[in-house]
Amino acid sequence: MNVKDFEYIAQLLYQRSGLVITQEKAYLLESRLNPVARKWDLDGFEALISAMRSKQDEGMIVDVTEAMTTNESFFFRDNRPFEQFKDIVLPYLLEARKTAKKLRIWSAASSSGQEPYTIAMILKEEAAKLAGWNVEILATDLSKEILSKAQEGLYSQFEVQRGLPITLLMKYFTQDGEKWRINDDIKKMVTYRPFNLLDSPSGLGTFDVIFCRNVLIYFDQETKGQVLDRMAKIMPGDGYLYLGGAETVLGISDSFEVIPGQRGVYRLTGSDATEDRKAG
Ligand SMILES: C[S@@+](CC[C@H](N)C(=O)[O-])C[C@H]1O[C@@H](n2cnc3c(N)ncnc32)[C@H](O)[C@@H]1O
Repeated sequence: MNVKDFEYIAQLLYQRSGLVITQEKAYLLESRLNPVARKWDLDGFEALISAMRSKQDEGMIVDVTEAMTTNESFFFRDNRPFEQFKDIVLPYLLEARKTAKKLRIWSAASSSGQEPYTIAMILKEEAAKLAGWNVEILATDLSKEILSKAQEGLYSQFEVQRGLPITLLMKYFTQDGEKWRINDDIKKMVTYRPFNLLDSPSGLGTFDVIFCRNVLIYFDQETKGQVLDRMAKIMPGDGYLYLGGAETVLGISDSFEVIPGQRGVYRLTGSDATEDRKAG
């Protein structure tokens, strides 16, 4: 691929999704874009890039942007953050919101649904404590294609084997041929909609908990900081933010701070100590 084509595609991906693609990762373009080229009846990814440059076809640009996203996800990913959510954050919020009885959770890069369904299963397991509550789980992603997989809620044996306890598989999934379908009562707890993290989330309302896991890693420092600062604006003072294991707020955004003794979960800078929160 010539330098001009690479620069064109790298800049387009950065503008459309925040993805930073370096020359060393240029090989990814070939493997991910060849199927898109086939879909558009073009002879390989280089022909696709040159068609994009000449036609500026929005559908083609969306297909290319979505194809370059990494959608890997699994249920109870890293386990510990979800245990922490169940054991510390949820009990705190149950107490702190006991009058309003309202809870809003955002899975901000939900991919194929494993993350929002993990949250839904945790909440379902605590259903007795949430009787009479209005609980909303909003799941968003840039990729409409991956959102339709999430909405379908159909997973391979391999996907359900990664992280999902067998008891929850038996309880909340039904076998469908060689696959497993998430039950309607869990599916109904999650609302899906497309959303680009480069946009302002102010129209989404406020969230007590935001899961923004394993997506900031694809962005540069500036974009990471902007995404985090915008999220801080739609959280109450005692909200919680979960990031992935390879992500942090440190040196990126002053809006959030580390919660001492906790990994992967952050609070707004200057808000209450978690110890106080635990006491309700
Ligand atoms: C690796 S997956 C993470 C899934 C899940 N959060 C987890 O931790 O398992 C990253 C997801 O981020 C989405 N994504 C990438 N850039 C995005 C953007 N600018 N706005 C919204 N979602 C984006 C991708 O489509 C992909 O589904």
